Amino acid sequence: MNEQSVDGRPETTSNSAEPVSRETERSTPPVSRETGIAFDTPIAREAAQAVHVLNVRQEQWPRPATTRVLTVANQKGGVGKTTSAVNIAAALALHGQRVLVIDLDPQGNASTALGIDHVVGTPSVYDVLLGGRPIAEVATVAEFAPTLRCVPATLDLAGADIELTSQVAREYRLQRALNAFLKAEGDQVDYVFIDCPPSLGLLTLNALVAAREVLIPIQCEYYALEGLAQLLNTVELVTSHLNPTLEVTTVLLTMYDSRTRLADQVADEVRKHFGELVLSPMIPRNVRVSEAPGFGQTVITYDAGSRGAIGYLQAAREIADRGGAASTTSEGTQQ
Ligand SMILES: Nc1ncnc2c1ncn2[C@@H]1O[C@H](COP(=O)(O)OP(=O)(O)O)[C@@H](O)[C@H]1O
Ligand SMILES: [Mg+2]
Repeated sequence: MNEQSVDGRPETTSNSAEPVSRETERSTPPVSRETGIAFDTPIAREAAQAVHVLNVRQEQWPRPATTRVLTVANQKGGVGKTTSAVNIAAALALHGQRVLVIDLDPQGNASTALGIDHVVGTPSVYDVLLGGRPIAEVATVAEFAPTLRCVPATLDLAGADIELTSQVAREYRLQRALNAFLKAEGDQVDYVFIDCPPSLGLLTLNALVAAREVLIPIQCEYYALEGLAQLLNTVELVTSHLNPTLEVTTVLLTMYDSRTRLADQVADEVRKHFGELVLSPMIPRNVRVSEAPGFGQTVITYDAGSRGAIGYLQAAREIADRGGAASTTSEGTQQ
């Protein structure tokens, strides 16, 4: 497959004589951002990849001053919400951050990708929302990262939107459970990611009410911006009526394919619209990313040297760095 580098530059043509193989597919960009080393031979590329993989678990990233709660939302399906939530969470956890992922989609794709059991009957986010069960009781530690926990979603959740309708404080269910959890944990949690279903129903509303930040993944495809106005309106409504602390802080361009001019046009348009909210790394379209969940893994562990993994590692790093900057400037106001 002919894919492109993480930063959107087309692949150099120096390798064009090589047969296109799985190895090419696995290769890292022509110049490693981590090392700045140009590797234009297969052996140099392999070496750089190995160094990169080794580094994944070693470096500690800056912790936020207080827990950051990010809701990953976009009412369109298939734009990379789940993929972004689990891979950014995994990247952060593998760099020493304490992370909780809340799977709020009845499909349970985030649970699957993190290797967390979610057959019907498993204690899950459904019990939290409709049974008042504490998050700590249903959160499960991911096998590959001891500092990463996941509240799984089971198919039970499919009816929750309707079941919630008749409940008292139906929009605040997740917020209350999460606040109680964070209090009990003594704020020993750095990040919470909430993976939303592809709709703007009560589940997504619960996620927006429980969060401080919204992370919007946008697929570099036709109609990328279509429907976003509706999401932004919903965020605004939540901000003015239910959760004044909510803000769209992060936009991530996903499934970027530099071979198409369309992808660049979409990326430009999104950057024009959202300015510096857009993370500088774009996630390339990369088959390793879509293979990983089939093995109950994130791409970070499945193939740490792949372009998809590197894209998510860079995006996660930028999220961590930005949070660090924000917490320094608002130091006086943090509790
Ligand atoms: N960067 C990528 N490269 C290739 N496939 C991807 C990439 N990101 C996501 N996918 C695939 O696209 C599909 C939709 O992604 P997903 O994260 O489930 O979207 P959403 O949660 O918004 O519905 C999944 O099959 C996923 O594996
Ligand atoms: Mg999803």
